[in-house]
Parts: sequence; C-alpha cells; structure tokens
Amino acid sequence: MKLCMIGTGYVGLVSGVCFSDLGNDVICVDKDVNKMNLLKKGKIPIYEPGLSELVVKNYKNKRLTFSSDLKKSIKESDIIFICVGTPTKKGSSSADLSQIYNAAREISSSINRFKIIVTKSTVPVTTGDEIEKILSKKNKKNKFSVVSNPEFLREGEAIRDFTYPDRIVVGSNDKKSNTVLKNLYNPLISKGAQYINTSRRAAELIKYASNAFLATKITFINEIANLCEKTGIDVQDISIGMGLDKRIGSRFLRAGPAYGGSCFPKDTKAIASTADKFKANLSIIKSVIKSNENRSNILLSRVYKILNNKIKNKKITFLGVTFKANTDDMRDSSSLKMIPTLSKKGALIKYFDPTGYKKEFKKNKNVSYESSLKKSIEGSDLVVIHTEWNDFKSINFKSMIKKKKFIIYDMRNIYTPSKIKELGLKYYSVGR
Ligand SMILES: NC(=O)c1ccc[n+]([C@@H]2O[C@H](COP(=O)([O-])OP(=O)(O)OC[C@H]3O[C@@H](n4cnc5c(N)ncnc54)[C@H](O)[C@@H]3O)[C@@H](O)[C@H]2O)c1
Repeated sequence: MKLCMIGTGYVGLVSGVCFSDLGNDVICVDKDVNKMNLLKKGKIPIYEPGLSELVVKNYKNKRLTFSSDLKKSIKESDIIFICVGTPTKKGSSSADLSQIYNAAREISSSINRFKIIVTKSTVPVTTGDEIEKILSKKNKKNKFSVVSNPEFLREGEAIRDFTYPDRIVVGSNDKKSNTVLKNLYNPLISKGAQYINTSRRAAELIKYASNAFLATKITFINEIANLCEKTGIDVQDISIGMGLDKRIGSRFLRAGPAYGGSCFPKDTKAIASTADKFKANLSIIKSVIKSNENRSNILLSRVYKILNNKIKNKKITFLGVTFKANTDDMRDSSSLKMIPTLSKKGALIKYFDPTGYKKEFKKNKNVSYESSLKKSIEGSDLVVIHTEWNDFKSINFKSMIKKKKFIIYDMRNIYTPSKIKELGLKYYSVGR
C-alpha cells in the first residue's frame, strides 16, 4: 500500500512514520516547505519522545519520504490521509474547516485512479459528506471513497498510542474501503487493538464525544478540588476513591490547571457549536467550557492570596509552560493566560521548560526564559509548578534555599505537603 499523509504536523508525521514502520510506503506532504526541508535532513520540527529515531530509520530505508508536491504525491498513492489542522474559526466557536476543504479540492483535481480518502483530522459530523460533494464535482463516484478514521493519539505518548491504540475507529459504508483499512491496521489489531467499523458520521462524532467526555472528567475533578480546598479534604483521596470504581476509572481524574492543548479546548467548542447547528443543546459540554475558561482565574486568585495581593516586583518562577509534559505544544496552555496576567500586574517572571524558550512570551514585559532549572528557582519569591514534567518530580529544593526561601505553589500535586514543610518552605497545592 502506498500512503499519502496530507499535513505533516503532530498527527500526520506520527501516523505517517508509524505506518511506514509497519512496512508501508508513505509520503508525508506539507505545504510548509521549511518543515519538509528540515525533515529531509533528519531534523524533527516537533518535540515528541522516540519520534526522531523512527523518522531517521524509515527515511533511510526509503519507506518514508517527504514532499511538498501534493498533486504528484496523491497520484502516486492508494490511500490519502487528511491530517491538516481544524482550529477554532476566528470570531466563532465552530471548527475552521478551510484546510480540510482546500485539501479536498487539491485531491479532487489529482484523482487518476481509485483512491480511498481518509479523514484523520478531527472534523464535525457531516464533514465527510461535504468532502464527498467536493470530490464528486470532478470525479465519478466509483473513483473514490471517503472514510472517517479519527486519531486518538496523545502528544507526548504519540508513538505508543498509535502503535497500541485502545481502538481503531473506521467510519465507512463502503465494504471495499473497510477491508483495505482493516488490512492496513491488521498489525495493530493482531496486537490487541479493537477495530470498530461504523458509519462515517458516527466515526466523526465518536472522536468529538470522546474528547468532550475527557474534558468533562478533568473539569469535574477540578471543581471537586475547589470544594476540597474549602472543606479541608485532600482531592487526591477523592480521585483514588472514585477512580477505583471501574465504572469511573482513575485516568483524567487528577485536579490541576485548566485543560489546554491543541484538542480539548477547540473540540469542546466545536461539538457544542455543531449541536447548536442541529438544534440539539449540549448543555453539559457548554458548562464544562465555561468552567474551564474560568479555571485560570481561580488558580490566579490563589496566587494573589499566597502573595498577600502584593504582586508588583514579586519574583515568580514557572516550572513548565507547555499544556502538559513531554510535548513542546503551547496551544491553549493555561500558562498563556496566567503569565501575561501576572506580568501586567508587575510580577518579574522567569520560566524554565525542558523544551526551551517560547516565542509566545516574547512581547510580555519582564518575562524571561531561564535555561537552568536551579537558576530559575534560586532567588524566587514564588515557584509555580505548572507542568508535570519528570524533571520537576524530585527537585533538591534544600540546595536552593541557602540564599533565600521561596513559596511553592504546586499546581500538579507532585509533592507531599509535609515533606516540603519540613524544609521550612511554605507549600500550596491544588484541592488539598
Ligand atoms: N495534536 C494532537 O495531539 C491530535 C490528536 C488527535 C487528533 N488531532 C487532530 O488532527 C488534526 C491535525 O492536528 P495536528 O496537531 O497534527 O496539526 P498541526 O497544525 O500540527 O499540523 C497540520 C499540518 O497541516 C499542514 N497543512 C495544512 N493544509 C495543508 C495542505 N493543503 N497541504 C499540505 N499540508 C497542509 C500544515 O502546514 C501543518 O503542518 C486536527 O484536526 C487535530 O484536531 C490532533
């Protein structure tokens, strides 16, 4: 099978390289020529553990190629995966599908023989129908099949998630395409992944409903954490007590900052907006969006309280600024709300992140990147543990308080409060 991935971002690159590692010939295409040139030199434009080795290996054995020539790549391929972005539309809460429809138009003019067009991007229900309409304008119906195959990988764990998925969802009413995709995924199915064949619209909705549900779980425990803080309860006990119930499960049930990243914020908005379009009210998801948007304000209020409302000239260190660990993705990270707010109030902010400097804070006054974890902490008034990187799990705080003591606000509940208090440091965390 010759595959073409349109869009070589987190999803297109990871799934493309993993498909090639399973023995397929894969062309990863992107309109970003710089990105393609970097990849051809073996340089990976994103931070994703294990990705670099896999790209270099498959590029060298020529199963994986990179190209900016979309038309040629489509003509040469049997299965075309659309992996372009579906961000929130400017000034709206619905998904901006312009990248999807542009890709569909480009595919439409390059169909030279039967092609299976697969949407891997997260797209609202009925998008597959629209892609089919675009393709039908120039092509006979027996020349293509449009399938939905949403991707469930998580950044930071992307290769493992792609290789050992809980389930593979394929939405298609066309038997031939279903068989081809089942064969393509067979190496993963034989390792235990569940393969689900459903309608195209159902596959599209499964993805959004899954993300909205996970976002709801996070928001739920974040609100419970607020109650715990008022009632002297440790939210971690609640997470354990609830999570052991097999009907609930412990994952995505840990209190912390607002959920962020390139998926949950935009996908919750998009599914609510789709429902509005079809005159169905997803009130639970709308409430989750609202609660999550207010989450950073709640954590910021705690910062103000910790610093007795004296923010001006306070030295605040952020440990980790990405939305979660093991990724360099800054999209919709809660640090993008918290750091500028504190900087506007006159705080002097340093941040350390294992993935380095972030251009996102370039314009913020008194916000600087520090390349050494130790230096970022020393001399600080308040250390905020924002992202749960392993690098922050066993910091030798004792060696850093010689000059000056600092307060710790652990937004990920990494440390045991009594252990930190033994060092003579004031320690705050979430929901306890
Ligand atoms: N990032 C994740 O963890 C994740 C997980 C599951 C699903 N998804 C979904 O997958 C889709 C892609 O997400 P991503 O994070 O990989 O996006 P991304 O922004 O990292 O990558 C998209 C890429 O597509 C390229 N592109 C856009 N139009 C193109 C065109 N016409 N021709 C060639 N290249 C084109 C862009 O240049 C970009 O490099 C989104 O719908 C997202 O919701 C993302």
